[in-house]
Amino acid sequence: MALKHRFSNVSQLIHGHQGNRGSESRSHAFPIYQTSTFRFDTVEQGMEIFAGTAKYDAYSRISSPNHRFLEDSLCVLEDGEAAQVFDSGMTAIKVTLLSLLELGDEVIAHRNLYGGTVRFLKELHKFGIETKFVDARQPTNLLEELTPATKMVFLETPSNPVIDICDFEIIKTVLEQAGRDDILVVVDNTFASPYNQKPLRKRADISIQSLTKYINGFGNATGGAIITSSKIMENIRERYNSSGGMMEPEVAQRIAMNMITLPDRMEKHNRNGHGIAAGFLKNCPLVQKVYYPGLSEHPNNDVARRLMTGFGGMISFELDDSDGSKTKTFLNKLAQDQRDGEGIITLAVSLGCVDTLICCPALSTHYSLPREERLAQGISDNLIRFSAGIENMDDIAYSLERGFQAVK
Ligand SMILES: Cc1ncc(COP(=O)(O)O)c(C=O)c1O
Repeated sequence: MALKHRFSNVSQLIHGHQGNRGSESRSHAFPIYQTSTFRFDTVEQGMEIFAGTAKYDAYSRISSPNHRFLEDSLCVLEDGEAAQVFDSGMTAIKVTLLSLLELGDEVIAHRNLYGGTVRFLKELHKFGIETKFVDARQPTNLLEELTPATKMVFLETPSNPVIDICDFEIIKTVLEQAGRDDILVVVDNTFASPYNQKPLRKRADISIQSLTKYINGFGNATGGAIITSSKIMENIRERYNSSGGMMEPEVAQRIAMNMITLPDRMEKHNRNGHGIAAGFLKNCPLVQKVYYPGLSEHPNNDVARRLMTGFGGMISFELDDSDGSKTKTFLNKLAQDQRDGEGIITLAVSLGCVDTLICCPALSTHYSLPREERLAQGISDNLIRFSAGIENMDDIAYSLERGFQAVK
């Protein structure tokens, strides 16, 4: 039986699928439909499914009950009408761009994005789609690059790794005032998570998630999702069926289960993120600069306060380090401590996990970008990206302090 009362988000995530549970087996947990195909009762039924007039699953690459379970949960948290999950965040990004853009179209993208997204946007040149990178923190910068060929604005906010905040609400309004309500505003919402930011509620057209990060939260699955209106999703689904980026049903089920704890995890990420940024890093004499949207000195703190209800666990900071040697010593010390059981901070890419992760983007996630391009994105050689986990904050601070002692 589907829920009739409008229960809270968490209750919906836990109980919203009662109607889909295996009614024949009376299974308490939602079953995993680990099947590649679904049988048709008749040839006619198969024809109806492929014509779209009967809503049954036909083939797991296209849809499955486990995908729907996760997609319904994402719609609840992102306030969307329709969602589509994929095997990774990058597939969600690729399908968004390839399904909604055509030869001759232009994208205006924010200057700082995840390295893989930048690479793919540039590759679109091969298909006759051009990308212009601008500093979208200032919405009027977009207007200067607007041409009749512009079809999409692509943002990531907060951005990876320099924590830029872009005001998608104002950007949509500015585009409309310029007579361009046809331009789609796409927001990669991975850094904020849908617990802290709901772009679709504030005028964005599409929200994208790397489910690998906060939504799954335990670092044991990769996945991606597009969440949008039913109308925009119609165009995307056409393309998705042949993209091949299918999430395994077992993975969809694991992520849907882990997502139930997202609101509780995010509360702790928000507390630890703020505590480490404001209470610890800001007061550390070795730290030159701290980037965190919840700090009053963040250049777009006022925008972040309007768009976000919490600021998450993603912090970046720079050590006072002219040749990069302190940054390496600091990170190697944390890695050594973690291996020796003396510290709890893991040197690794990825983010949004229950455990604290740290990396240097110039030496990892953004390594393949030419140095000038990295610097233009605001990524200095000694920028450190920090993903505060949900451990005890004192334990995180203790582990960081051991790293700082090593470079004093
Ligand atoms: C902001 C952001 N978007 C998208 C991605 C890509 O996600 P995935 O690794 O799940 O493909 C990443 C990966 O780090 C990311 O940080």
